[in-house]
Amino acid sequence: MATILILFSVACLFMNTESISRADFPDGFIFGTASSAYQFEGAVNEGNKGTSIWDTFSKQPGRILDFSNAKTAVDQYHRFKSDIDLMKDLGMDAYRFSISWSRIFPNGTGEPNHAGIEYYNNLIDDLLEKGIQPYVTLYHWDLPQMLEDRYEGWLNDQIVKDFEHYAFICFKAFGDRVKYWLTFNEPHSIVLQGYDLGFQAPGRCSILGHLLCRKGQSSIEPYIVAHNILLSHAAAYHSYQHNFKKLVAERLPEIKPEVSSLLVGSLDFVGINHYTTLYARNDRTRIEKFILQDASSDAAANSHWLHIVPWGIRKLAKYVRDRYGNPPMVITENGMDDPNKPHIALNKALQDDKRIRYHRDYLSNLSAAIRQDNCDVRGYFVWSLLDNWEWNMGYSARFGLYYIDYRNNLTRIPKASAKWFRNMLRLDSDLR
Ligand code: NOJ
Repeated sequence: MATILILFSVACLFMNTESISRADFPDGFIFGTASSAYQFEGAVNEGNKGTSIWDTFSKQPGRILDFSNAKTAVDQYHRFKSDIDLMKDLGMDAYRFSISWSRIFPNGTGEPNHAGIEYYNNLIDDLLEKGIQPYVTLYHWDLPQMLEDRYEGWLNDQIVKDFEHYAFICFKAFGDRVKYWLTFNEPHSIVLQGYDLGFQAPGRCSILGHLLCRKGQSSIEPYIVAHNILLSHAAAYHSYQHNFKKLVAERLPEIKPEVSSLLVGSLDFVGINHYTTLYARNDRTRIEKFILQDASSDAAANSHWLHIVPWGIRKLAKYVRDRYGNPPMVITENGMDDPNKPHIALNKALQDDKRIRYHRDYLSNLSAAIRQDNCDVRGYFVWSLLDNWEWNMGYSARFGLYYIDYRNNLTRIPKASAKWFRNMLRLDSDLR
């Protein structure tokens, strides 16, 4: 869910956040919107797709706040072309989406499914034709159910081999056009929410006595899962390098040892999903020895679960700069939600001034991190283009720049924030 930066001191930043535009970012800085297959595509039974752990999980009573499922989600499977037109219209440079493993391998392994490959080929081709760069996440939480049934998914180290194979097939099928790959979305969420707290798929719970836990599983499970995710990440990364090497073998210069030591590590950029910031205060009475507190200055301005703390993004970029030697960073998600309540009038939902302030202030701080603090941040993805299916919140949270009319054929209606982004992303030449 949120990337939480725990801070012990307050920083006072004075900056002009009244207006922000592309010109406040370096040339080549990427703006995009982010999504995931399960939250957007729908069509869960089409194109020979296999079942995923989220299909199973969302059927279990009490798992999803509004009792919904993502069978249709926002139907991007059938509407991707018009959705890409919306991105283009906003002036976005990139689209971050994920591949559904069970579309490519309905059983998790074996022979790739032609219809799945074709769907992503069409999506990628349409993006590129419209001048939008694909950023592709390999795993955004929807594990093929078959792997869960066969060997308990992430708990078994066989998954490393299967993930590597899945990644390899994706690189082979799409790597000629996709230049930016992300292996895992929020590994900590998979571990904590799927295996520790148990409120996301597969719903395993190692905290005995926790409110949402049906039965306590072994407390070692989250660590096994984290371990297997790390190994799978590294296996996929090296398979990409190897694959690439094979494809362009004779064109590659020899890598000298001194250069090779620069290449150690298995990432080219760090993707950061950032939503909120909390303070942590010592509290010896608690098991974890601290308590988290709201770090926002205006509690009333907060969305129901995330605290709006624009300076947190600048602090976080500086922290990554100092702690990890200023690697290239991409903000792979940033956004805020509104509640989806039937009594909220459409015109009120569309006038999302709070979201505009949120993005404006976070972007101002990000620009300062780049310009004033020399943080190497290369891009920013809004979560999200459209309202969509928010995991265990179902359709009850709306994160989009476009409103989805769930009662009326999933029509996409621009909110004020979509118009704000369109204006913000205009190139100077558009203004002449
Ligand atoms: C992060 C997750 O990657 C995404 O799937 C989710 O919808 C957003 N946070 C909002 O909670």
